[in-house]
Amino acid sequence: MAITIYPITAQFAAEIGDVDLAHPLDADDVAAIKQAFWDYAVVIFPEQNLTQEQHVAFAKYIGPIEPTIGAYRPDSKLRLPPELVDISNLNVRNEIWGEKSRLRGLQLGNRLWHTDSSFKYLPARASLLYARTIAPVGGHTEFADLRAAYDALDDSLKRKLPGLIAIHALAYSRQRTGFSNFSESERKELPPVPQVMVRTIPENGCKSLYIASHIGRIIGMPDDEALALVDQLIAHATQRQFVYTHRWRLHDLVMWDDRCTMHRGTEYDDLRWTRDMHRATVSDIANTCEQEGVAIPGESQHSREQQ
Ligand code: OGA
Ligand code: MN
Repeated sequence: MAITIYPITAQFAAEIGDVDLAHPLDADDVAAIKQAFWDYAVVIFPEQNLTQEQHVAFAKYIGPIEPTIGAYRPDSKLRLPPELVDISNLNVRNEIWGEKSRLRGLQLGNRLWHTDSSFKYLPARASLLYARTIAPVGGHTEFADLRAAYDALDDSLKRKLPGLIAIHALAYSRQRTGFSNFSESERKELPPVPQVMVRTIPENGCKSLYIASHIGRIIGMPDDEALALVDQLIAHATQRQFVYTHRWRLHDLVMWDDRCTMHRGTEYDDLRWTRDMHRATVSDIANTCEQEGVAIPGESQHSREQQ
């Protein structure tokens, strides 16, 4: 039986039924899932029963897997294999984290509007978050439609933004939450990177904003002006009409297009309830400046290749 698609709105977020992601998919189902993904940007697969391997195997239909930044700390033990990002409130012994734990401080940044891995030179294309244990209250995930938000920009911003290059870093978003406990190896692996602010999604030609709380600077603009512009754009893009709130059910798998959405986790009592979510992340095909054919000032191709 072919997959079924239940749109939540006409252009953003849809549920997909009649597919079991635990098994290899036939080519028609893969093509239909990809088409729905390009159309809606957020797709929800309810009632999936996936092992970690099956979760990763499904993600590979969308593209190559990006390893977790947890692997940048060679000294720390990970609860999950490097192909999965740990979005839980659990420590390596599967206990709820401590109030003052480093992990808790770092993950607090997921409550800010962001798109995954825009702080990497090669950012994420897609994220696939799977709910293994959910909190009984709170702990939703909100998604903002950055294609619709782009379309609704006023003309002066539509003219101004395409030439601009923003600088993203994990340290910039964590600065907003007061977290700065990065190791030497993390600082080295996660330098600030350039990304365009408006991008074109190749599969459908749609234009999208590409913004996140990871932005700390915009090339050629004073920092206070740059941050004011970023905050203005995030406020614009997260108005109610652009946002879908996902209230998790156990064993939902939600896949979103990091190229044209932002998301954030909502509050829950993380010292009381276990919320165990695993994320597989798929890499984009190139840095966004390269994809848009925008030159990065002060960076020759040569210096980038040496990194
Ligand atoms: C993520 C993320 C928010 C949440 O998985 O990338 O930001 O609701 N999650 O857990
Ligand atoms: Mn995220």
